[in-house]
Amino acid sequence: MPTWALSLVFWLHLLATVLWIGGLGALSLLVLPAARRNLSLEKQVALLDAIQRRLDPLAWFSLAVLVMTGLFQMSANPNYQGFLVIRGSWAVAILLKHIFVGGMVVVGAFQTWGVLPALRRAILLQQAQGRTDDLGALHRRQEVLLQLNLLLAVIVLALTALARAS
Ligand code: HEM
Repeated sequence: MPTWALSLVFWLHLLATVLWIGGLGALSLLVLPAARRNLSLEKQVALLDAIQRRLDPLAWFSLAVLVMTGLFQMSANPNYQGFLVIRGSWAVAILLKHIFVGGMVVVGAFQTWGVLPALRRAILLQQAQGRTDDLGALHRRQEVLLQLNLLLAVIVLALTALARAS
């Protein structure tokens, strides 16, 4: 693969990493703690919903870019010996990386198609009838899933560093 093409692929892989993992990090470590200290539950839920309406599609877009560029990077890497040929620490690190990326996809899917729709229904119920039954529990579940995905992302980066050093 010509150097300009591999550079472009790595650049896109790193950009997608910064957008997705950076967004998860800023939300979990900066926004949520500050919102918890300064806003009512209803306002916290409204703020996080507004942020998720942007972060959620961005995360799925970043994942698509990471998978496409990652496959190119893998095929261009001298350590790569073929599909599911797991020999040497590089291949083991990349395989484990894929497993943890898979974990991030499962958590993301639960968030996008499970918790977020339920939370939006609870917000409508709260606005229409002032009832906040599930709002607190759903909001907490969303926070936990965001933090879990950040933890998985940190492990993905550690495995990437291991692959780079191999
Ligand atoms: C959450 C998902 C992912 C994140 C955060 C991520 C992040 C990164 C980062 C930061 C690098 C290091 C680039 C460098 O040091 O030059 C990298 C390299 C790499 N990534 Fe990913 N990546 C992800 C998903 C994937 C996927 C799905 C694949 C494969 C399909 C993949 C394959 C690779 C390969 C082959 C390398 C080069 C490793 C090496 O140079 O030895 N990545 N990734």
